[in-house]
Amino acid sequence: MIQLNKELITLLQQAYSAEKAAAFAYIGHAGSVKDKTEKLKIKQIELDEWNHRADVLKIMQHYNIPISKWYEFKYHVIGKIISASCYVLGWFMPYYFAGNLESGNVCEYFRMKQYFNALGITKHDVVLYEMGIKEKEHEVFFLNAIKDKKAMSFFEKIFLWGRRKSLNNVDLENKLPVEKSDVYCKK
Ligand SMILES: [Fe+2]
Ligand SMILES: [Fe+2]
Repeated sequence: MIQLNKELITLLQQAYSAEKAAAFAYIGHAGSVKDKTEKLKIKQIELDEWNHRADVLKIMQHYNIPISKWYEFKYHVIGKIISASCYVLGWFMPYYFAGNLESGNVCEYFRMKQYFNALGITKHDVVLYEMGIKEKEHEVFFLNAIKDKKAMSFFEKIFLWGRRKSLNNVDLENKLPVEKSDVYCKK
């Protein structure tokens, strides 16, 4: 059995638990928006996050990596707080911070792929690539919902994510195939 490095193990454990936080957050987000089609779209994103969690768990089980009780607890609390806050933050902020977080999540999966590849392991490439791309789709969904809103230029300046600034270098319109995706999220 190949021994994974500490960074990769932590990345997997964190992603597994953070996906739960994301799913919880989207339950609150979907609950707080009024528009029916928006609700359904956010519900779909919630389902995507549960699927990611299941896929990450499969990889962890393959290497006998235990679920971190601490991360499970921490991200449970974070997810519930974000979920509840959607009802008080108004319409704009849940979209903005969801997009901002998704933007960062994209690279988590491409970085995992790089760690695995450095160990000579390529069998998780497709699933990790697909998760990274899915997070990008989530980012773009939230960005498109708010990009023309007045508050956007203010938030973009303060929180460094928005129309001009992404936390990853993935371009969905010119998406690279999995075997060329190494240029994504290179440090
Ligand atoms: Fe996810
Ligand atoms: Fe996501």
